[in-house]
Amino acid sequence: MTMHVDNRDSVLVVGSDGSIGRSLVTAFQASGKNVLQTTRNRNLVSVQKVFLDLSEDLRQWPLPTVPVKVAFICAAVTSQEKCRSEPEYSRRVNVEGTISLARRLVDSGCFVIFLSTNVVFDGKKPFAKGNDPVNPQSAYGRQKSEAEAKLLKMGDMLSIVRFSKVLSPDMPLFQGWIRDLKAGKEICPFSDMLFSPVPLAFAVEVLLKVAELQIPGIMQVSAAQEISYADMAVHIARKLGLDEKLIRPVSYLESLIERAPLHTTLDVSRLRSELGMIPPEVSKLWS
Ligand SMILES: NC(=O)c1ccc[n+]([C@@H]2O[C@H](COP(=O)([O-])OP(=O)(O)OC[C@H]3O[C@@H](n4cnc5c(N)ncnc54)[C@H](OP(=O)(O)O)[C@@H]3O)[C@@H](O)[C@H]2O)c1
Repeated sequence: MTMHVDNRDSVLVVGSDGSIGRSLVTAFQASGKNVLQTTRNRNLVSVQKVFLDLSEDLRQWPLPTVPVKVAFICAAVTSQEKCRSEPEYSRRVNVEGTISLARRLVDSGCFVIFLSTNVVFDGKKPFAKGNDPVNPQSAYGRQKSEAEAKLLKMGDMLSIVRFSKVLSPDMPLFQGWIRDLKAGKEICPFSDMLFSPVPLAFAVEVLLKVAELQIPGIMQVSAAQEISYADMAVHIARKLGLDEKLIRPVSYLESLIERAPLHTTLDVSRLRSELGMIPPEVSKLWS
């Protein structure tokens, strides 16, 4: 199906069924923008939402028929486990399909925003700088890092936004904890795995600003601190008045194959200086 749109400024959200893509669509629709979307679910295809599978040959994929000002590439194989167990498929999506689509969009005059991750770094030091050398330790991180390097060669019509962790209150992990704590059941969060969560609404605000200002290069987004999953569980329990004695911290090393990065925070100088945004404080989450 070819995309049909009206004459307002259009934006394209690639991967609009995902957590961040969905929120971006909602934010743009609220501001009256014409939002084109892609889905890989044929049942969800509509006039504004076309089919796109990044694992397929995209050379014939029909670009929108009107100029698209900004496109967000939110679609990806985001499961670290799937990237590890299906390296060829996930690389086809996270590197080859992504690059091929970005190339066509940039060539059509569109500013492209690619969502990336802190795990392009090895996490040996906190607050990694945007131009520090990458050293991914997982298949997912290696794919994102390879995509980044190729995308950066496309010039000033492209922005890479690296997020540490985007926190949505409805994340199954946290909802599961809350459900279990309310039911009086023990939970076993990791005590030795850190993350640096930014609320989904904050992440969307960053993306809207990068789109508005069309800032090229690498923009990094993390919270002001990092916290272990076990401490986050305690934090949530306290905020919601649940019994924190039911929290039994465990080591992730007992259950995971790939080593998690020691540190997850990112240097956010550009976020402060160019977007005028302050990184969120972990202690204020869930309030
Ligand atoms: N959330 C975070 O904490 C975080 C942190 C750093 C970076 N990021 C990056 O931000 C982006 C969005 O993340 P998210 O949390 O919104 O991820 P998500 O909820 O997993 O959404 C990913 C989307 O990609 C789609 N997708 C997967 N394979 C595809 C394919 N072959 N062709 C087309 N679409 C495909 C999925 O489709 P279905 O809905 O059909 O499965 C889904 O809608 C990703 O690039 C991710 O790496 C996220």
